[in-house]
Amino acid sequence: MENLHLLYNFISCVFILSIKLSIAADNITPSRFIRDGEKLVSSSQRFELGFFSPGKSKYRYLGIWYKQIPDTIVWVANRNSPIFDSNAVLTISNGGKLVLLNQTNGTIWSSNLSREVKNPVAQLLDTGNLVVRDNFSSNSSEDYLWQSFDHPSDTLLAGMKLGWDLKTGLERYQTSWKSDDDPSPGNYTHRLDIHVLPKLCTYNGSVKLLCSGPWNGAIFAAIPSYSYLYKPTVVDNEDEIYYRYDSYNSPVIMTLKLNPSGKIQHLIWNERNRTWEAFFSLPDRFCQFYGHCGANSICSFDKKPHCECLKGFELKSHHNKTRPGTCVRSQSSDCKSGDRFIMLDDVKLPDFVEASLNESMNVKECEAECLKNCTCRAYANSKVTGEGSGCLMWFGDLIDIRKADDRNNGQSIYIRVPASELGGKKLLWILVILVLPAILLPASYIISANSRTRDSWFPMFSLASVSAATANFSTENKLGEGGFGPVYKGRLLNGQEVAVKRLSSQSGQGQEEFKNEIKLIAKLQHRNLVRLLGCCIELEEKILIYEYMPNKSLDFFLFDSTKENLLGWGTRVRIIEGIAQGLLYLHQYSRLRVIHRDLKASNILLDKDMNPKISDFGMARIFGGDELQSKTKRIVGTYFGVLLLETLSSKRNTDFSNTNSLTLLGHAWDLWKDDRAWELIDPTLQNEASYLILNRYINVGLLCVQEDAADRPTMFEVVSMLTNKTINLPHPRQPAFSSIRGLKNTILPANGKARVCSGNCLTLSEMDAR
Ligand SMILES: *[C@@H]1O[C@H](CO)[C@@H](O)[C@H](O)[C@H]1NC(C)=O
Ligand SMILES: *[C@@H]1O[C@H](CO)[C@@H](O)[C@H](O)[C@H]1NC(C)=O
Ligand SMILES: *[C@@H]1O[C@H](CO)[C@@H](O)[C@H](O)[C@H]1NC(C)=O
Ligand SMILES: *[C@@H]1O[C@H](CO)[C@@H](O)[C@H](O)[C@H]1NC(C)=O
Ligand SMILES: *[C@@H]1O[C@H](CO)[C@@H](O)[C@H](O)[C@H]1NC(C)=O
Ligand SMILES: *[C@@H]1O[C@H](CO)[C@@H](O)[C@H](O)[C@H]1NC(C)=O
Ligand SMILES: *[C@@H]1O[C@H](CO)[C@@H](O)[C@H](O)[C@H]1NC(C)=O
Ligand SMILES: *[C@@H]1O[C@H](CO)[C@@H](O)[C@H](O)[C@H]1NC(C)=O
Ligand SMILES: *[C@@H]1O[C@H](CO)[C@@H](O)[C@H](O)[C@H]1NC(C)=O
Ligand SMILES: *[C@@H]1O[C@H](CO)[C@@H](O)[C@H](O)[C@H]1NC(C)=O
Ligand SMILES: *[C@@H]1O[C@H](CO)[C@@H](O)[C@H](O)[C@H]1NC(C)=O
Repeated sequence: MENLHLLYNFISCVFILSIKLSIAADNITPSRFIRDGEKLVSSSQRFELGFFSPGKSKYRYLGIWYKQIPDTIVWVANRNSPIFDSNAVLTISNGGKLVLLNQTNGTIWSSNLSREVKNPVAQLLDTGNLVVRDNFSSNSSEDYLWQSFDHPSDTLLAGMKLGWDLKTGLERYQTSWKSDDDPSPGNYTHRLDIHVLPKLCTYNGSVKLLCSGPWNGAIFAAIPSYSYLYKPTVVDNEDEIYYRYDSYNSPVIMTLKLNPSGKIQHLIWNERNRTWEAFFSLPDRFCQFYGHCGANSICSFDKKPHCECLKGFELKSHHNKTRPGTCVRSQSSDCKSGDRFIMLDDVKLPDFVEASLNESMNVKECEAECLKNCTCRAYANSKVTGEGSGCLMWFGDLIDIRKADDRNNGQSIYIRVPASELGGKKLLWILVILVLPAILLPASYIISANSRTRDSWFPMFSLASVSAATANFSTENKLGEGGFGPVYKGRLLNGQEVAVKRLSSQSGQGQEEFKNEIKLIAKLQHRNLVRLLGCCIELEEKILIYEYMPNKSLDFFLFDSTKENLLGWGTRVRIIEGIAQGLLYLHQYSRLRVIHRDLKASNILLDKDMNPKISDFGMARIFGGDELQSKTKRIVGTYFGVLLLETLSSKRNTDFSNTNSLTLLGHAWDLWKDDRAWELIDPTLQNEASYLILNRYINVGLLCVQEDAADRPTMFEVVSMLTNKTINLPHPRQPAFSSIRGLKNTILPANGKARVCSGNCLTLSEMDAR
């Protein structure tokens, strides 16, 4: 199909442009040249090379860009030598040197050559690499005489190397443009710092602006990692040390760009909107600026960015207007009284100003070695894969420690502390807290600290890659049938397991619901919400790719008498609290105000540690900031109340059978009135939970399902009630739909369509009322 299409294009090109065939070529030889206005196009039409004027500039430059995104220049040849007219030509000398000539054949720019060849060809490859090679040799990269990938501009494309060729001494690094109109080298560079262990750093001139944690064998620690989108690689041998990333999904267009203001951004092309979206942009937070807290302190970002002296250090000078302060070793640190180490978890390791690495030591030997030497201030594992291995030791001041940006991608470090400071209260780690006065921060810092750029994007997968990941949507890979189509288990090329939801064309979920779901989940990030990794819209297919949940859904355990005993009391409490936290985030803390509207046990997925994740946002609704009235919020409280009671009792609300009550709610209410609420609980738990706690949970559940919506607590109140065991709870009133009257014919209006309800549709009247 695609070949036919290309062939057709090719034929029409030949037909129409038969006079200027050179335009569509991807290579030049010494007898040919490229004039301003002509282009080289890579073989599958991905990249173009030609002359351009950036932004508002009048000058001409030779560059490479995406054919379908002409404004995105990924490489510039004559950055330092703008061309003032449109008479320049690009050609290749007989020996193989690329030259850019002006009208009088003066050289504007040329490529360097290590050796000359007889039959040179310059070719623009589909990777975006412009290479010079000998026509008679193979095209493996070792044989390139020259390649643009060795001379990056501000953009690192997939497959490009950032780092060092140790044999030739060539360092490949990115240099920012001066401005959007001027590609000449700006103040910022992005380089691989190879001192001790490789890490990525952005520099302002020669000053470090920002550094990642060291390469830990799998990722650069402590900066956001999107390893399901691309495969990061560090090669470190005697010939070369470099970083490279490769896209798993070649139709996805992504770049790593250093922009003129010094931000390093990973960008992904959203073809539908025809915009670039940043999935990370650094620095975007105060703490990410290199060493900004000064020596021996840690920068954290809990609610506000703040600096704290490390344990064993104290603030020397009160901060003045230019410097926040310096933390120095406290008086008691004399290295005589028997020092100990305390662990700081999930941090970015300090810079290797004075540090050593021994890869064959383990963590115990590392500790012993560090303890022996008074100047050793801290140690850590150099590799975190497996049980952890290797020994890093720091001597002298510890610079640039910060809490990791994403949970769980930081490392642990052990800091030397005098024994005298460890005695007494073992948990209280008293810190000198040094909150920077807000007036000292430039406004832009505060703004960027709060804005998070990476929550409004989602990657597009090709149908071919999704199909490959699920063995052609094979029945063996099928996990089940969701509300709107089958769900498959899949494995991406990086090994990550995913759940693939393939929406059937005749499913209730139309284009609108689909967009709704994508838009929503892509913007939501919470540990109790299932994470959308990407989607695929191709031909008639609409496919969503989620993180994989090995333990299926809550209903799978709850309503199966052979499995309910796998859910102990502690697990159920964690599930209930997790769902409550997820809902609270949806209602209150996410940028959008979201009402889920279809919360039920089958939509609560469980990860490998049985942590709950809310899924299936196909019917969810987004509300504007003020639109979300307390009444609407309280509606979802009902769903939650039912789910809570189901989780405690292992009984489904709807097909509940009991002689006296017709629903679980009615039964719970009857028991509550008789002061026998604890009888509701699943018998397998009866020895695990205390009577008081159990009563409390049932109380909260019943408060959520009260007949009058105005009486129901908000999710914020629910979370407080569940987590703070000392809050006194009000007595619940009669629940809604506790009798047969409410159970029959419940119809939930969803997106204009009436739908017969299968789950906990206890909110009919309120939904109508809105
Ligand atoms: C530039 O070089 C070309 C090819 O070598 C030649 O034909 C042309 O006359 C030269 N132009 C000038 C102005 O020297
Ligand atoms: C072409 O380049 C040469 C050498 O750089 C320079 O001397 C000459 O003035 C340039 N000619 C034009 C028309 O720019
Ligand atoms: C060519 O090599 C020279 C000297 O090594 C260097 O100054 C120049 O920047 C190089 N030019 C290019 C385009 O790499
Ligand atoms: C390479 O050389 C062969 C034989 O001389 C020739 O047919 C072919 O066109 C050349 N390829 C390029 C890209 O110039
Ligand atoms: C050049 O590389 C391409 C893709 O890697 C390969 O298909 C082709 O056979 C190579 N050509 C030669 C002459 O080695
Ligand atoms: C680059 O640095 C120079 C001084 O080193 C400064 O004057 C200039 O404003 C800086 N440019 C940018 C874009 O930061
Ligand atoms: C980079 O340094 C220049 C001065 O050398 C300064 O004006 C500029 O603000 C610095 N940029 C950043 C992002 O810190
Ligand atoms: C993408 O485009 C759609 C409509 O064309 C718009 O609603 C949406 O906000 C856009 N998304 C972004 C991230 O710009
Ligand atoms: C602020 O502290 C720095 C470093 O301690 C010092 O060099 C500078 O003079 C101090 N400035 C003022 C105004 O005290
Ligand atoms: C690394 O540690 C091992 C085990 O303690 C030791 O034998 C070796 O000499 C150390 N290597 C270096 C370079 O210090
Ligand atoms: C402590 O470590 C430093 C840095 O490696 C070294 O220079 C010094 O000799 C060591 N001191 C002792 C007593 O081992």
